[in-house]
Amino acid sequence: MDVFVIEGGRKLSGSLRVNGSKNAALPLLAATLLTNEPVTLRDVPELSDIRNMLRLLGELGVENDRDGSTISLHAKDESEIHARYDIVRTMRASICVLGPMLARRGMARVSMPGGCAIGQRPVDLHLRGLEALGAKIELDGGDIIAKVPQSGRLIGDTVFLGGPFGSTVLGTANVMSAATLAQGTTVIECAACEPEIVDLANMLNAMGAKITGAGSPRVTIQGVESLGGVDHTIIPDRIEAGTYMCAAAATGSSIELTNCPLDALMSANDRLEAMGVHIDPTDYPRGTSPEDPLRRTCTISAPEPLRPVQITTQPHPGFPTDLQAQFMALLCLASGNSVITEKIFPERFLHVAELTRMGAQIHRHGTTAVISGVRRLTGAPVMASDLRASASLVIAAMAGEGTTVVNRVYHIDRGYERLEERLGSIGASITRMSESEFSERGIGTLTQ
Ligand code: EPU
Repeated sequence: MDVFVIEGGRKLSGSLRVNGSKNAALPLLAATLLTNEPVTLRDVPELSDIRNMLRLLGELGVENDRDGSTISLHAKDESEIHARYDIVRTMRASICVLGPMLARRGMARVSMPGGCAIGQRPVDLHLRGLEALGAKIELDGGDIIAKVPQSGRLIGDTVFLGGPFGSTVLGTANVMSAATLAQGTTVIECAACEPEIVDLANMLNAMGAKITGAGSPRVTIQGVESLGGVDHTIIPDRIEAGTYMCAAAATGSSIELTNCPLDALMSANDRLEAMGVHIDPTDYPRGTSPEDPLRRTCTISAPEPLRPVQITTQPHPGFPTDLQAQFMALLCLASGNSVITEKIFPERFLHVAELTRMGAQIHRHGTTAVISGVRRLTGAPVMASDLRASASLVIAAMAGEGTTVVNRVYHIDRGYERLEERLGSIGASITRMSESEFSERGIGTLTQ
């Protein structure tokens, strides 16, 4: 296991290009199961979650080959239908293969994903949605077994995907993908409106699907007999972009982001601006329409100190839960009391205890955390617990004084490509070491 050794207090300056989106790439990769023609995906980030998805697709007969950020995929052998526990347990997003495999191969056996560090994470809405299309679903030995009806195809219907915490992103992706090959028309009500769903619908339509309304709560899919190949460029990662914005704001720096999906970051930017952070698009003057609102160039600059704000996470276009932890790190240094309420994953607060180790003043009451800004954070050994919590620790460490050691950075590698190199290129001091290298150098102890 690797660790990050981070020297705090460095200002950032320079430019970073935002990578393709992890959370768009995963369902797009799974959707290659819907065709036996070649698919090319561009701007695919180099991440362990993507490698796991490619491994899973390989086991399911999809040959894949990476050349830089471009991946060529081709489902040549469509006989395998089992997504095994070995892979699913490493990555919940493996559930994305359920809908495409069921629709194209007539049957799917996918190990039931377990909970994870951010909470329970059930898949009942995915299953309810596929059952509404006629799928027969049973559980056997910890696996979900799904079969199309006797007619040999799923059958379009109206499907409601609302749950106690709003819609479901990957559930919408699963049902929408499956419905492309169903007989008749499917209407998904209370569909997730996230930009990743729009990207998936755009790719599926380019493959020959007939989807309208993606990005709104009602998505209509007119089933077709088959889908063809496609060459598709993935949208930029709004969460990676938001994380870099937080890093700039926390360190009182000014940086440039290119390929930045500003249009998908409205609520996060609203909160940053309320804190006093300036986000200035530099590619098109205000009042003109950019060619592609998801691929902008902008500068982020942060005069100190930041003002406190209130944040409530919500489904898109509300504030994204995937930026909650990073914003909490930022608000630790604001000049007053901030309140964050988590409405998507009520248990997503593992970063609180670690930030507190660095001197943060945070009081959690159920799904709400009150953050009292402090004048400074100080370096400490901390433990990464999940992807976004880990990113928040990196931000806090960069803004803090002294040396922080972030353990278990494999969580970060799931969703941020070479984070230490990329932030290092704009002035951060982050060194990756193996645990043994770290111990040998004698900087300290890894255990807390
Ligand atoms: N939910 C249910 N039943 C279901 C599915 C979801 O009750 O069948 C609940 C969840 O427990 C949660 C809420 O609905 O309370 C939303 O969950 P959702 O299904 O939308 O999450 P997901 O699709 O599994 C994706 C992202 C997450 C992101 C969430 C919410 C991917 C690969 N994952 O997960 O990203 O937090 O949407 O926006 O796209 C991350 O990147 O760090 C990450 C966790």
